[in-house]
Amino acid sequence: MRTIEWDEGTVTIVDQTKLPDETFYLSMTKCDEVASAIQEMKVRGAPLIGVAAAYGLALTAYHSKAKTRAALMRQMETSAKTLKGTRPTAVNLFWAIDRVLSKARGTIGSAKTVARVVVDEARGMADEDVEINRKIGANGSKLICDGDVLLTHCNAGSLATVDYGTALGVIRTAWEAGRKIRVIATETRPRLQGARLTAYELKRDGIPVTLITDNMVGYAMSQRLINKVVVGADRIVRDAVVNKIGTYTIAVLAHEHGIPFYVAAPTSTFDLAQASQDVVIEERSRDEVSYIGSERVTPAEVDVLNPAFDITPMKYVSAIICETGVLSPAEFLQAASA
Ligand code: MRU
Repeated sequence: MRTIEWDEGTVTIVDQTKLPDETFYLSMTKCDEVASAIQEMKVRGAPLIGVAAAYGLALTAYHSKAKTRAALMRQMETSAKTLKGTRPTAVNLFWAIDRVLSKARGTIGSAKTVARVVVDEARGMADEDVEINRKIGANGSKLICDGDVLLTHCNAGSLATVDYGTALGVIRTAWEAGRKIRVIATETRPRLQGARLTAYELKRDGIPVTLITDNMVGYAMSQRLINKVVVGADRIVRDAVVNKIGTYTIAVLAHEHGIPFYVAAPTSTFDLAQASQDVVIEERSRDEVSYIGSERVTPAEVDVLNPAFDITPMKYVSAIICETGVLSPAEFLQAASA
């Protein structure tokens, strides 16, 4: 199944907090449940939280008892506010909510008509996500050669999208085309998306993967164990790529070792109106750092810093792989200033 599905007013997701040990399908019929699933990272990854939010609005519309179009729009605005308050950094969340709202606002007709249009829009966005990831894969795989060892960070795979993935989409396409490649995945403290999700996805698909802890990247690069990096993104602003905490360290190390650093993301992740100083970096609970599983590994009262994302200046980026092609930072900047 895809990572998220819609069926007659029910949204079903794979609860990613339970992977890799348990594949638990969580079914939801209320937008508030979708908002909690996003906040608690049962669904995660920029493209997927965008589609999940669109489906959250679709649930509000589908189950609404509003008699008028105006009353339905008020309910949708309330749901949109709740969804936008879940996670601040991935721009796809805001992009998806605004796209669905604007479609609803532009629809003339009864509450029922608007509800139908909203559901269709959300379903269309889910299908579109898969098509876009396939295109990202096709564009990016041209950069991958036989014998490459690719480092990826966090999880930018089918679990972070509706299906196929962005950074892992590039790796998948290269693998499916017969390229003999290997992947090094970072564990991605503190939520372990690399250890739990990327390692799980790649093993499931039979793509050779070796797991390292985040602090082994410098060693692995210095020993020439890695020759390309490909990561996803949560927001690409005019001057930087915002992605999972640890990405910046990897990019600087790649630069130091002359290793290409690629970012794979759909254009819905582009936020050309903003620059790095405008981005809100999500700060998550101290417990994510002080606990490993259910065990506290730190002194009880130690101060903890837990930013979920960091900012990689464009000078460290070799290229951005999106559904329209492979953009050099200069081409990206040209698009940004157009
Ligand atoms: O906090 P998460 O797990 O939602 O963060 C996910 C990432 O940082 C991914 O690298 C990014 O969203 C790209 S996913 C295709």
